[in-house]
Amino acid sequence: MKSMAIVMLLIGLTACATMVPEPTPAQLEIAQNRWPTATLAELTEGRRIFVNQCSGCHNLPPPSELTPAEWPATIQEMGAEYAKISAADIELITKYVVSARETPEPKTD
Ligand code: HEC
Repeated sequence: MKSMAIVMLLIGLTACATMVPEPTPAQLEIAQNRWPTATLAELTEGRRIFVNQCSGCHNLPPPSELTPAEWPATIQEMGAEYAKISAADIELITKYVVSARETPEPKTD
């Protein structure tokens, strides 16, 4: 039973990692349409904070869960009232999640 739980856990972690991709140069270009000074380091930091702060109470929501228009208010509410993180961290998460949402998925076939 215990090993089954570990296998399920590993499958879950793998799924999360692919649905919450590392930022790419293509994603940075999309981010810079909204935030001209955005950097790849900022997006990477936003992803790190998102993964750490937004998976404690529920599964980490994939960027595809909401639209680019819906995300900022949700991240603001979740970040300020639930995760209790700083405004700066909320902004980093927003940059990462919104630009990840707007980046087309790489074709695998
Ligand atoms: C302290 C617990 C907690 C933390 C931390 C937390 N959430 Fe939530 N989240 C909830 C609860 C409870 C709900 C469902 C009820 C609600 O919407 O208020 C929810 C719902 C959501 C939803 C679905 C709501 C919708 O509008 O579809 C999203 C998306 C979400 N959270 C994103 C985040 C993000 C992003 C973070 C990190 C900044 C985060 N959550 C951190 C407790 C938490």
